[in-house]
Amino acid sequence: MGLLDGKVAVVTGAGGGIGRSHALALAKEGASVVVNDVGASRDGVGGNASMADRVVAEIKALGGKAVANYDSVATVEGGKKIIQTAIDHFGKIDILVNNAGILRDKTLVKMTEEQWDVVIAVHLKGTFACTQPAVQFMRDRNIPGRIINTSSLAGLIGNFGQANYGAAKAGIAGFTRVVAVETQKHGITCNAIAPIAKTRMTEDLPMFQDAGETLEPEFISPVVVFLASDLASNITGKIFGVHGKQLFAYEMKTTEGITKAEGWTPQEIAKHLPKILGEEVAA
Ligand code: NAI
Repeated sequence: MGLLDGKVAVVTGAGGGIGRSHALALAKEGASVVVNDVGASRDGVGGNASMADRVVAEIKALGGKAVANYDSVATVEGGKKIIQTAIDHFGKIDILVNNAGILRDKTLVKMTEEQWDVVIAVHLKGTFACTQPAVQFMRDRNIPGRIINTSSLAGLIGNFGQANYGAAKAGIAGFTRVVAVETQKHGITCNAIAPIAKTRMTEDLPMFQDAGETLEPEFISPVVVFLASDLASNITGKIFGVHGKQLFAYEMKTTEGITKAEGWTPQEIAKHLPKILGEEVAA
């Protein structure tokens, strides 16, 4: 008995890295999996079917069920085709893991319009383009579906040289919270992970050089299997940090703040800033 017997999952960008690991982990728990990947380079150039095909072959070799899809997540048309692949081959969709991603790192002052647009398109629009048809299907069939998105520390905390990527990833966190609110009445959950793993996307960063085996993508996927399963039927709107074997939750917090009946002047804002920012130290 697997945790996901009888379930149908779509994993975008599943031809390598973290997505491949998710696809294998979901299949090992009994899910039938659509392995989506355009087969692009790390910066999103080119495309080839072999990346998705290889992962489908791996899953089948382990006795699992899988089918490949090569559409790009970056258009609404592509998103619909990806979800339709699950419906055509396996009759439905229960689980969507929005994972596909690319990088075009540049500092703000050097960033081109194209570098901005393409990163927003794959990550943020791609998450919308796949989630909308999936949720429509789940809602119409009363399926208690699972949407699992992929955010990043780069957007939730901030990281040098990634204004495009960070904006997309923070946008995905906001999208996750809104979709969680909208889908709750249908029994659908929507959560996100913010992973850190050694893949082709990160392997040349200094922090990954001495990481050894501690940051393999395989450590990320149990969180996705958990969120996809009945164990997490009441968990929605959460963002899980998954740094290798370390798990935590990101939270959006507000300070207590102050209300001033007669309204504020700029000078008073300056005077009360420590309290507004929650930095006041008790005397
Ligand atoms: P990766 O580069 O190994 O995998 C990304 C996959 O997405 C590739 O197989 C690529 O072909 C596919 N892809 C790219 N554009 C696509 C499109 N338009 N449609 C369909 N597929 C497309 O990178 P990795 O590290 O596995 O990243 C997976 C996700 O995790 C990404 O969303 C990434 O931003 C996120 N992430 C990864 C971190 C890490 O430490 N590796 C840190 C934070 C977030």
